[in-house]
Amino acid sequence: MNKVNFDINSLIRPNVAKMKPYSSARDEFKDFDSEMIFLDANENPFETNVNRYPDPKQQKLKSILSKQKNIPSNQILLGNGSDEVLDLIFRAFCEPSKDNIITLPPTYGMYSVLANLNNIENREVLLDSDFQPDLVEISRTTDTHTKLLFICSPNNPTGNLITSEKILKLLKTFNGLIVIDEAYIDFAKEESWTTKLNEFPNLIVTQTLSKAYGLAGIRLGICYSSTEIIAVLNKIKPPYNINKLTQQFAIERLEDTKKTEGYIALLNEERGNLLKVLVQVNFIEKVYPTDANFILIKVDNAEKRYSQLLQKDIVVRNRSSQSLCENTLRITIGTTSENKKLITILKTLK
Ligand SMILES: Cc1ncc(COP(=O)(O)O)c(C=O)c1O
Repeated sequence: MNKVNFDINSLIRPNVAKMKPYSSARDEFKDFDSEMIFLDANENPFETNVNRYPDPKQQKLKSILSKQKNIPSNQILLGNGSDEVLDLIFRAFCEPSKDNIITLPPTYGMYSVLANLNNIENREVLLDSDFQPDLVEISRTTDTHTKLLFICSPNNPTGNLITSEKILKLLKTFNGLIVIDEAYIDFAKEESWTTKLNEFPNLIVTQTLSKAYGLAGIRLGICYSSTEIIAVLNKIKPPYNINKLTQQFAIERLEDTKKTEGYIALLNEERGNLLKVLVQVNFIEKVYPTDANFILIKVDNAEKRYSQLLQKDIVVRNRSSQSLCENTLRITIGTTSENKKLITILKTLK
């Protein structure tokens, strides 16, 4: 990428570039902790802990993230799960029925759902047999209307990291924005691409508190990018997209770094144990390497094994309908006792 030539303004949808954002009451008056009388937002004045609208800029939460990740707050956008962040990226940069995006199946299904929803063509370039991107094919598939390339690393459902050589080449050559979805990065041995934000103005990194942090229920997704890209996304996000309870929960968990580190250490240890045992199960033909909190396995007959596990009250995900994933099951790492039960059952299946 020639940084000098990169112009974010050429990628923003013209209506988004022109629009004025909604200005909420809490945007206009920001002194949340003061003892003043708030008669500006048509709220109910009686205290319920949630009778007031939440901070639309989530300043406290962002300042904690900013310190922990060493990224300025104005390079952070929060969403109602990373799914909302991904949708905002589509809506900011992709013109319906004109622009296109590139995804790399087998990968996370929401990219294609969001492309459909936003009426954007999704050009699929299959990963190779090692589940790595095919750079030649990506380049062939790209045209002047290609706005986004989605790279999921570690990839769901395959579990592997995309190599840094491939990602670097893409960052240097791809003309649109590259979204690296790092939902599972906390379980991986490699560092996050957030460390490269200042080198690549076309880089967007998404993360989530749904996996390693154990907070899927509160819905908090995070987007890190340049100040310019974050400003565009901020402009179009719903004003109060992160509710007050989510902000409180997230702040508490982020401050308790030991808790999350404990989860990661335990789940990674369990993953190591499971990997060793799964290869010994006779109907498992392949156990794919993983840097995530799940393992993809190839079995003799995925439908049959899925049903057998279900009969024993164990729910895994049959990923066979995805490209390159015939007869595969994706197994999330559970607690030690859940994993033990899984192994015992797998060993008894005929
Ligand atoms: C790769 C990937 N990205 C994003 C998400 C969604 O994350 P969130 O819960 O933050 O919406 C998932 C959820 O499974 C995922 O696998």
